[in-house]
Amino acid sequence: MRVLSGIQPSGDYLHLGNYFGAIRQHVEFQDRGEAIFFIADYHSMTSVRDAALRRQLVHGVALDYLACGLDPERTVLFRQSDVPEVTELAWLLSTVTPMGLLERGHAYKDRIAQGQPADHGLFAYPVLQAADILLYHADLVPVGQDQKQHIEMCRDMAQRFNNAYGKGTDLLVVPEPYIPEEVAVVPGTDGRKMSKSYGNTVAMFATAKEIKKAVMGIVTDSTPVEDPKDTSTQVFQLWALFAESDAEKQEFFAQAKAGGVGYGDVKKDLLKRVMALFEPMRARREELAADPATVEEILAEGGRRARALGRPVLDACRAAAGLGPEPGPA
Ligand code: TRP
Repeated sequence: MRVLSGIQPSGDYLHLGNYFGAIRQHVEFQDRGEAIFFIADYHSMTSVRDAALRRQLVHGVALDYLACGLDPERTVLFRQSDVPEVTELAWLLSTVTPMGLLERGHAYKDRIAQGQPADHGLFAYPVLQAADILLYHADLVPVGQDQKQHIEMCRDMAQRFNNAYGKGTDLLVVPEPYIPEEVAVVPGTDGRKMSKSYGNTVAMFATAKEIKKAVMGIVTDSTPVEDPKDTSTQVFQLWALFAESDAEKQEFFAQAKAGGVGYGDVKKDLLKRVMALFEPMRARREELAADPATVEEILAEGGRRARALGRPVLDACRAAAGLGPEPGPA
């Protein structure tokens, strides 16, 4: 099974919500199949117009993923634009993609609804995303709920291309989305969904002092220590993310419901667990940040491996579509 996903560099710092909502699952896929992850720098051109900033953002994503445990020996980690073949496949796909399909795209529709100008890059964004997936014959694409439509469009394009040129064979693999339902929304320190825009995050790579401030600042009510606690509140739900096992969680929640557990102690224990998980990652990130040549070499090697996977797929599509000279006798 080949698992693939792309990460658009945004420049946002990572927080607990990103980690438990996406990155951890990405990293775990390394053990379940052949994993391919790329940093979507071509896609970032639809929003970022500063070349130096783009390079910096791409580097930052590479640092984040490597620090979180992505192992470049086992996983192909690369920069999208290091495999320019993807843009050619995007063209081939665009010729079987109805305008109406793209006109229904959420990102495009939202931009128009806001009265903002949209360029062709944004309109065609889903076609490039489909090419990202199809070039590597990916079977499974782990993404968030917001990307579901893009994966459906990708499946549609693959089928249309296969119908047009496949002569009954699967030139392109029709992928399945993987949208984990069980990943609960990670609550922020104020109880709303954890999000940078709400200012309620616990940042992964912040200093020990900043993390302590965020954790101790989790909003709680004034229930006295002896009284039963409501374990559906954010301090317990955040703690539960770090429980060693379901049994440990059940036991702790039972204690809290019985009374005698103070919020201050829950926060201290949570802080200990947050630091134990993220401090080694922060240290690793710092180490890599000080060694940009190594990170560059990892991306370059990933790009070579990705290209070796993608080139034959593109060549088969080209030949099937009658591009280039007649393939000679083998
Ligand atoms: N559009 C995706 C996002 O914003 C990023 C992305 C680009 C992607 N190409 C992809 C995700 C291919 C999965 C597969 O999150």
